[in-house]
Amino acid sequence: MTAPILRRLADLREMTARWRGQGQRVAVVPTMGALHAGHLSLVEVAKARADRVIVTIFVNPRQFDNADDLAKYPRTEQDDAAKLAPYAVDAIYAPDPDQVYPPGFATTVSVAGLTEGLCGAHRPGHFDGVTTVVAKLFAQTQADIACFGEKDFQQLAVVRRMARDLDIPVEIVGCPIVREGDGLALSSRNVRLSPAARAQAPVLYRALQQAAGAIGDGVPVAQALAAARDAVLAGGFASVDYIDLRAADSLVPLDVLDRPARLLAAAHLDGVRLIDNLGLAPA
Ligand code: PAJ
Repeated sequence: MTAPILRRLADLREMTARWRGQGQRVAVVPTMGALHAGHLSLVEVAKARADRVIVTIFVNPRQFDNADDLAKYPRTEQDDAAKLAPYAVDAIYAPDPDQVYPPGFATTVSVAGLTEGLCGAHRPGHFDGVTTVVAKLFAQTQADIACFGEKDFQQLAVVRRMARDLDIPVEIVGCPIVREGDGLALSSRNVRLSPAARAQAPVLYRALQQAAGAIGDGVPVAQALAAARDAVLAGGFASVDYIDLRAADSLVPLDVLDRPARLLAAAHLDGVRLIDNLGLAPA
């Protein structure tokens, strides 16, 4: 059975009030649609941890720093609803834009520090757009649990910080990256790659794996990162925004692997910006 698609906040509230009245635990999976197996893995986690699951689908204009990227973002709501059918989620919340940003909307939620490097340095305003819409979705759904993918590792850290700082009573659950057979992390933007670029795309993950192996073998971090950058460019990518080793919790830059860490990368291929990351543990 396909889940009801709700467009209005009032309808969402009516539904969730009923659930809460019955003492049920509610999970939310925020998405921008164009659902793939990565999103669906979050839905599975949500189903396992809550009595009711809401999937939100909203292409949030405020988090796009590039008008072309927003215009080209895939919108496939009917397909999305069909993909969710086997999971029997309880509601799809695909709000009309004025339900999220009513006329006169004047508030921005902004997390300092964590947002300043990595994607934040290359996408001005992006994380303010993310935290503003996620804060709204938390307030609108009043979910007890929210599932986010490690694919967007910085986003996950920023959302955790926001929820903690604003005392939002939601448990943030991070979920592992789902990949294609050749290692490419699933992304709604992958469909925009030409067949040739699609074949080159796994170079990004392979370069991260090689760098992780080298760092584990004692190669200096800067040298391993430079080699990864060279490999990505040699593999057909047009440019690299960053390839960096960061502490897994605070995202501070590391030049020695002395604590749980994350290798993170963003690079451009065929006009598409791809991101990926990999966890590393100190020996
Ligand atoms: P979107 O890119 O649609 O991603 C929705 C969720 O799916 C995010 O938590 C993301 O990390 C997760 N996800 C995407 N690809 C994944 C993969 N290959 N493996 C595991 N999880 C994956 O992220 C956003 O939307 C937006 O910024 C949003 C949080 C909805 C706010 O607008």
